[in-house]
Amino acid sequence: MHLPVIFTFIAVQVAAQGNPFQAPGPNDVRSPCPALNSLANHGYLPHNGKKISVPMVVKAFKDVMNVGADATTPIGTLGLQASHVLLSTTFNLDDLKQHNFPFEHDGSLSRQDAFFNKNQNFDADIWAQTLSNFDGLENATIPAAANARFARANDSFDRNPKLNYGARQLVTSFLENALFLSVLGNPISGNAPMSFVRPFFEEERLPFDEGWTRPDSETNLETLGAMTALLQLAKPEAVPEGLQIGTQSITDVLNLIDPLTGKVTTVTCALLGLC
Ligand code: HEM
Repeated sequence: MHLPVIFTFIAVQVAAQGNPFQAPGPNDVRSPCPALNSLANHGYLPHNGKKISVPMVVKAFKDVMNVGADATTPIGTLGLQASHVLLSTTFNLDDLKQHNFPFEHDGSLSRQDAFFNKNQNFDADIWAQTLSNFDGLENATIPAAANARFARANDSFDRNPKLNYGARQLVTSFLENALFLSVLGNPISGNAPMSFVRPFFEEERLPFDEGWTRPDSETNLETLGAMTALLQLAKPEAVPEGLQIGTQSITDVLNLIDPLTGKVTTVTCALLGLC
């Protein structure tokens, strides 16, 4: 190979690998969301995890994971409501651990419930429960992810005396299932290789080294709605009667409307555990 050809080859390899991973330092903050944390760990969001605006979130998710602005704008805007500074246009990643409003909920796939005071960081015991649903599978599939979500919610029902898990939390957790299956697998079929899923949750690292690249197809509100409906079909007993999981219920949650009762969620009702 001629020298310029070698240099071009190396440059393409580096681009395909993306920004290098750097673990958070002692003054860096992180959130309960493995996706936001991964973006910060690779420097697509500020590595210190602070002063993050909605346009920054929208650009990073589109550039790196091909998630559409129609999904990330309302999710990011809702995230702003957790900011420690009133009416701020930015938030810090650790603001998002605020329990039950606007997002953070019990029964997560990789975090303890807030009742146990550990709802922000990855928890190996909780993750082991989730992983047991993917045992022997090369890919995380829609049915296996639906089982994992259901099992985690049931574990919280059994152990957490202050559990709050209504329609809003249910739809949010379906949405999170659909997000990781779409971004690490495929926005239509799911099927995310476990070799991508594990570093994403366990190290909050984008699995470039394992062969993951930015998905060609966009993840957006429509694909997420369709996938959450498939997740529900895979585990129909998990959903209260009258609750239709899909794009409309996701949109309701992102507009702070309870998807079952139509009641508007306020900080007061959320913090009192009444919605
Ligand atoms: C647009 C900005 C986003 C914000 C503000 C955000 C925020 C959050 C928050 C607060 C949680 C914690 C919920 C809980 O209590 O479990 C969470 C969980 C999660 N997020 Fe994000 N998120 C965003 C986008 C995304 C995207 C695009 C993905 C794509 C992979 C994603 C994947 C996840 C997953 C898989 C979980 C569940 C973690 C678990 O259950 O252990 N998020 N997110």
